[in-house]
Amino acid sequence: MRQIITAKSAGFCFGVSRAVEMTYQEAALGGTVATLGPVIHNPFVTRDLEEKGVRSYDTVAEIPDGARVVIRAHGVPPEIYRQLENRGLQWKDATCPFVQKIHRLVAQQPEGTMILLAGDPTHPEVVGIAGHCNQPCIIFQTAEELMEKLQELENKGDYSYIMAAQTTFRLSEWKKSTESAKKVCTNLKIFDTICKATVVRQEEAETLARQADAMVVIGGRHSSNTLKLYQICQGHCPTVLVEEAEELEPFRNLFHAARIIGITAGASTPACIIKEVQKSMSRLDNINNDMTFEEMLEQSFKSTYNGEKVTGIVTGIKPNEISVDIGTKHAGYVPLHELTDDPNAKAEDLVKVGDEIELLVVRVNDVEGTTMLSKRRLDAAAGFEKVMNAGETGEILTGIVTEVIKGGVLVLSNGVKVFIPASQSGVPRDGDLNTLLRKEVSFKILETNRQRRRALGSISAVIREQRKELAKAFWENVEIGKQYTGTVKSITNFGVFVDLGGVDGRIGLSDLTWLRVKHPSEVVSIGDVVTVTVKDLDPEEKKVSLIYKKAEDNPWEKIKTLHQVGDVVTVKIMSITAFGAFAQIIPGIDGLIHISQIARERVEKVSDKLKVGDEVQAKITELDYDRKRASLSIKALLQDEDTAAEEAPVEE
Ligand code: F3S
Repeated sequence: MRQIITAKSAGFCFGVSRAVEMTYQEAALGGTVATLGPVIHNPFVTRDLEEKGVRSYDTVAEIPDGARVVIRAHGVPPEIYRQLENRGLQWKDATCPFVQKIHRLVAQQPEGTMILLAGDPTHPEVVGIAGHCNQPCIIFQTAEELMEKLQELENKGDYSYIMAAQTTFRLSEWKKSTESAKKVCTNLKIFDTICKATVVRQEEAETLARQADAMVVIGGRHSSNTLKLYQICQGHCPTVLVEEAEELEPFRNLFHAARIIGITAGASTPACIIKEVQKSMSRLDNINNDMTFEEMLEQSFKSTYNGEKVTGIVTGIKPNEISVDIGTKHAGYVPLHELTDDPNAKAEDLVKVGDEIELLVVRVNDVEGTTMLSKRRLDAAAGFEKVMNAGETGEILTGIVTEVIKGGVLVLSNGVKVFIPASQSGVPRDGDLNTLLRKEVSFKILETNRQRRRALGSISAVIREQRKELAKAFWENVEIGKQYTGTVKSITNFGVFVDLGGVDGRIGLSDLTWLRVKHPSEVVSIGDVVTVTVKDLDPEEKKVSLIYKKAEDNPWEKIKTLHQVGDVVTVKIMSITAFGAFAQIIPGIDGLIHISQIARERVEKVSDKLKVGDEVQAKITELDYDRKRASLSIKALLQDEDTAAEEAPVEE
């Protein structure tokens, strides 16, 4: 019976998986996401990321302004961080922690050290490591090349040597190189920096290739670790390198002739492609066994794959993760940050043992026998659908304003960041968008782009609808004389507009205050909450006139209890005219002192005797309540004084 064996270490390594995840997370936030070179050398993933708005650039200079950069697992030299900083670009560092360890190692070497670095000098990881070396460095790809370069080196004996390798360097060549170096360099420290994931993958591929009649290596043709696997396997049996399952067809005959077929995959090959290759191979084979290859594979290898939706039963709860049984041989677990978006949430408050929950497979690790799952991402996917559908149904969504950005705000709703342009934010043109920060808002979706996972919303659309409803209710219930509480919305020279909730009413200047004011802003300010009375209505034109001044504040009522004609009062000159001066008796009532009533003698010019601000005594000579007019006289007061003086008894 023909056998198909997949290497257990095939597929994403820790560092690649981490970098891919970080890139997808950035892409989900919207905006432009840039990488320096493809995140991984896999055309399938690269295409998918491109569809989600992730673009790859060769240099920092090419990255557009405002883009958020993800530094891929290979790492970069320090110069790149400097360039990003100079451009003011934000970045997320997805450099694999194992590569970062090499960066620290080479950067910390003391003066007089020669660094011997095994690797491809053109590979980005090696370029990055070389950039972190602060001592001279020799890069070599084979033991022979190292020997040649060491022989050319002057003053060999003056150096201490350290030796490190690109994480994906071929193990057999590394061993040969270290043996050779030991013979030449007396003061040598060897740091085996080849990633164990790579070692395990290479060793497993070699073991498998030795027993197989044919091998399939899956991975990008530009991926160095995939090419190394291909070279290793080729040394033992006919080997085919494919990037996708469709490429298997031309090799049908090779597989027919093979009794044992081995499959392995590079560190940047997603599990779904491995699965596809397994399925395709099953279809390529026409032999009539009891079990198809696919069935055999299903039985012996993964029963779940990345991106699959599964149902799990909670079997254990720890502070940082929960365990779930998803019905496979793998131990399922959900890290706390994959359970919820809320950084303050506790696992035990969210689930209990025995709960059945829907989950998304994030990573199947056949080496460790574990499957990492996520509820958060599934919820986010459901949230994304909800947001996309709201664009079609017109449903009103709610969310929290998380960021003010150029041209608008971002609202987090159902796990999706929705862009609300400033013009749709409900904030006036000259207003401050920051007033919306961290507030819950209701909005409608105006535009969506499924491929780019973007949505554009409008708070104003909801406000407009709400105002329409309120306006309808207002006109059904309003009547003259009814009191309302509203907010001052705008102020003009002639009046004030008050938002009564769905309807704006106008207070004319004469209905605003009993006092004499030059501008309505002396009485109210925008944003003031005021109680007003409906003065008049025009339902046809949808116009409402309001009164703000109160009857009890009417100065003509007040003066009745304070003064009467004949009273002598101290008044303040408020204005001067050609025919007299107006003087305030009480706030709201200015009486006229006619030019003929200013002095005993004839006055040619009012300003010869009075000026604005003077306080003088005068007699009230008229209070006309109907015409709202008051008259004063200084002359009458003086005459009274004269008469009193004449009538006073003369002392002998
Ligand atoms: Fe890191 Fe090893 Fe992968 S170094 S990127 S985990 S191959």
